[in-house]
Amino acid sequence: MALVTLTPNITALLYLFSAVCFILAIKGLASPTSARTGNILGIIGMIVAITTTFLGNAIAQPYYVLACIGIGGIIGTIIALKVKMTAMPQLVAGFHSLVGLAAVLIAVAAFFSPESFDIGTTDNISKSSLIELSLGAIIGAITFSGSIIAFLKLQGTLGGAPLRFIGQHLFNLLVAIGISYTAFTLYHTSDPLMFWIMIGLSFFIGFLLILPIGGADMPVVISMLNSYSGWAAAGIGFTLNNSLLIITGALVGASGAILSYVMCKAMNRSIFNVIFGGLGEPKDDTLELTHISEQPVNQGNADDAAFMMSGERSIIIIPGYGMAVAQAQHALKEMADLLLQKDIQVRYAIHPVAGRMPGHMNVLLAEANVPYEQVLELDEINRDFSSTDIAFIIGANDITNPAAKTNKSSPIYGMPVFNVRDAGHVLFVKRSLSSGYAGVENELFYDDNTVMLFGDAKQMCEQIVKALEAM
Ligand code: TAP
Repeated sequence: MALVTLTPNITALLYLFSAVCFILAIKGLASPTSARTGNILGIIGMIVAITTTFLGNAIAQPYYVLACIGIGGIIGTIIALKVKMTAMPQLVAGFHSLVGLAAVLIAVAAFFSPESFDIGTTDNISKSSLIELSLGAIIGAITFSGSIIAFLKLQGTLGGAPLRFIGQHLFNLLVAIGISYTAFTLYHTSDPLMFWIMIGLSFFIGFLLILPIGGADMPVVISMLNSYSGWAAAGIGFTLNNSLLIITGALVGASGAILSYVMCKAMNRSIFNVIFGGLGEPKDDTLELTHISEQPVNQGNADDAAFMMSGERSIIIIPGYGMAVAQAQHALKEMADLLLQKDIQVRYAIHPVAGRMPGHMNVLLAEANVPYEQVLELDEINRDFSSTDIAFIIGANDITNPAAKTNKSSPIYGMPVFNVRDAGHVLFVKRSLSSGYAGVENELFYDDNTVMLFGDAKQMCEQIVKALEAM
């Protein structure tokens, strides 16, 4: 028995309130200035949603449920507090997998105990509920196994390179036909064996779909799995007859789908390639590029960088994953401020997939109080490199790699990259000549107008600051 029981009308009203909070939260998160408010609204919506679900239903074991919520909440809080910013994408992928698994488990519970869910009896589950729980289970299972692969790839446990085998797409098609057949038979027979095979095949196709997707396309995969987890939750919302779960699932599903589409457009990728597991992707390019690493590079130090920059008029800073690893944003801002004081124009160029999660660089620069007007998106700034004296690349690699424009066999071919080669000089801060996330060598290191500044991004910025101050 619940501690206090809410009437259905009050429950519906509170669910509506939560749904409005979630919509406003998504709207708020669309801009850095309103993101905090968006987050708070999301938290309020979720607290109201959980409390209402708890009080609005006749729960047989409320203390047991409360204990589970408490344990889950504590584990989630500890993980969120401990996780490094750079490991956020893995965490998100891990949490998506749990949403998928939850959808599968609810479908299993509903299938074997339909009376508890008010959807019929064991031998006679309502047809519409069978469709809903099958959809929830299929999408949930794909989300679970796909997210596990995404997690392992992002964690570096599995290599970022696409894993493919001959006849893969035909094989995927056969598995997809198998899922459709078992779902169809389940609808007509309610046979538990068909239910288990359907779930097993769905887990399997989740692995198959994500394994062939290359490193550089992982951002799209994450947002796509996010979308799947939303649709799985919405499907289960129908089974549970819970309007808020349907609304929230649809919100997550739709916003994830839109984000996937926007990211595909930004990355010049086909959304169908990503959904159907790397269909028609280019081949690995390691062989074609091995020779470039044998060439000499121009190497400089912080004093050289300070001297070069202080004599120029315009600088574009391109931050990437390495800036996040080194936590160099504050030292970078200090460096930029000193340059601004010398009447040098300083702007920051943000690539849609810089770092390891959408908006990664924006968050770090905002944390360092970089004014928003100095931060420009790829489309807004890419033409300006030809009229810029220095492109200062800090911990970025793939997003500057010209192979994306020139090498048709490269896994990053077609992805838009910054036109850094058009700038007067390129200063490249990184620790070595190693490749970026996509594992593709960068021929930019060897250009005549490139100067490599080897070292940790934060330390290099601090040294440049000292050199600028000493001038
Ligand atoms: P990357 O191409 O991964 O390059 C980062 C570079 O930073 C590395 O080459 C590394 O070189 C350098 N680095 C690492 N630690 C450093 C440190 N402490 N100090 C200085 N440099 C350091 O990064 P990017 O250019 O930002 O591109 C992002 C890549 O990640 C893309 O391929 C993208 O598709 C992928 N990705 C993005 C996302 C999202 S949503 N943004 C999600 C998953 C994957 P050294 O080792 O030589 O220092």
